Amino acid sequence: MGSNENQAVVYQVYLRSFRDADGDGVGDLPGLCEGLPAIADLGCDAIWLNPCYPSPQKDHGYDIADYRSIDPRFGTLDDFDALVDQAHRLGLKVFMDMVANHCSSQHPWFRQALAAPADSPVRRRFLFRDGRGDQGQEPPNNWESVFGGPAWTRTTDADGRPGQWYLHSFDSAQPDFNWRDPAVAAEFESVLAFWFDRGVDGFRIDVAHGNVKDQELPDCAPGHNYAMWDQPEVHQIYRSWRSVADSYQPPRYLVGEIWLPESSSLSAYLRDDELDQAFDFGLLIQPWNGPRMRQAVEAGLAQAGGTLPAWVLSNHDVHRAATRYGQEQCLDRPEPTDMIAAARRQGPVDLALGTRRARAVAALVLALPGAVFLYQGEELGLPEVLDLPDEARQDPIWLRSQGRELGRDGCRVPLPWTAGQASNDGFSPTGAAPAWLPQPAIFAGLNRQAQDSDPWSTLSVYRSLIKARRAMFGDDPGIAWLESPPATLALRRGDGVCVVNFGEQTVALPDSWRPDALVSTCPMDWPLLPPDSACWLKAGEGRH
Ligand code: GLC
Repeated sequence: MGSNENQAVVYQVYLRSFRDADGDGVGDLPGLCEGLPAIADLGCDAIWLNPCYPSPQKDHGYDIADYRSIDPRFGTLDDFDALVDQAHRLGLKVFMDMVANHCSSQHPWFRQALAAPADSPVRRRFLFRDGRGDQGQEPPNNWESVFGGPAWTRTTDADGRPGQWYLHSFDSAQPDFNWRDPAVAAEFESVLAFWFDRGVDGFRIDVAHGNVKDQELPDCAPGHNYAMWDQPEVHQIYRSWRSVADSYQPPRYLVGEIWLPESSSLSAYLRDDELDQAFDFGLLIQPWNGPRMRQAVEAGLAQAGGTLPAWVLSNHDVHRAATRYGQEQCLDRPEPTDMIAAARRQGPVDLALGTRRARAVAALVLALPGAVFLYQGEELGLPEVLDLPDEARQDPIWLRSQGRELGRDGCRVPLPWTAGQASNDGFSPTGAAPAWLPQPAIFAGLNRQAQDSDPWSTLSVYRSLIKARRAMFGDDPGIAWLESPPATLALRRGDGVCVVNFGEQTVALPDSWRPDALVSTCPMDWPLLPPDSACWLKAGEGRH
């Protein structure tokens, strides 16, 4: 098992929106290389790169057509090698994204399968089935795609007649693999080794609980589709990937994206011979509320079994934190089927308030034992862009729901770097094409360069938190809650204390907590902690 990664701060790079070096309005690997020093300067330990393999980009890279190369939009394999090299020189590990539930409908295996007759072995790599009804005109079962609409699409045979159906848990351009076919398992072991041999330090595993479906593909009742997720056979995949990862020195790191209903446990995925860590989305779906956040922290630590959680506050699938915490806070608990939707709500936003709270939650999460995955742009306090023009939107969720759901484009808008000469708020070089999603006016004021020199910018707050994290809390794997003033949460970890004020009033912290070292998310006049803010305290030897 990997060790120090379990407490790393990992910066999530959504490549097409990070930085554009060639001026086509889309981020790329050379652009990422230009921006790497900024990630290192923030104090991060690693980057996680969303998929950058050749792909028709129907789901922005989560539809992979070739698992052993780089999409020419983003660069070449040589650019990738240069990136790994530069990252390592800056002390950053590099994690890639492995999408093994499905590939692109342009993947050669799927094209071969479409061209082959119904009972052919090459079709067995996917989930092809005859339809129901006398003409096979009804889908084989009633499953729905995560992106909306049916999870099945009918094919056309060589003679032009309607043929079998194939399963796609997501978009129709993302056919699901059949993990019961040994050719699939062998292929992915080889793909992992391909990248590990190039120096990649680990993988984030996309929808890791989804790869295997119930063999019978039964109809599902409304609510959670148990047959689609979390099948016992899925664990065999991670045992085999563990042995590939452990055959390297140092052993490579595996973290799973696993969404389970709150009652189920992640710990089966975290056994010694499976994944190092799993994302914990428990905090992400909580409102701004102390008791709820406390429960989520406790549940996260308990669910991680013998390892530690990989905490997530934001990512490329949910609304940005500054927007979420600036909306009306909803205390209803999300249904299992609705957890992501809970983090993609609309409604009026008080951005100044949301920004203060987002910084405070960052202080809470960075105080916890475990890894923290930080989505690009959160360190700038970027808001969700809720008002993108319809014609600019590209997310399959928007397209498949005919605009009923906004989808995820609003958290994927290119980052602002400078307000100077360069194009697209410094995302692109001078004279570039417009950014692939238009940046709102507010992004210019939040550019990285301007925030760099402002000691109370969101960027400066993030940097001081990340840099102080180890010195404050060490590597202690446990926490203890402390008695604290009303509407606050206080936890101790190692020699450090983190206090968050969820209330509407400034609170006076106990004089006995007077620290020798203090980090706070807004200017603080000890012992007064303003509302919607947090601080870290560390006393000298023998105090607290
Ligand atoms: C994961 C990714 C998401 C993608 C989906 C299908 O949930 O995070 O962006 O659309 O899997 O691959």
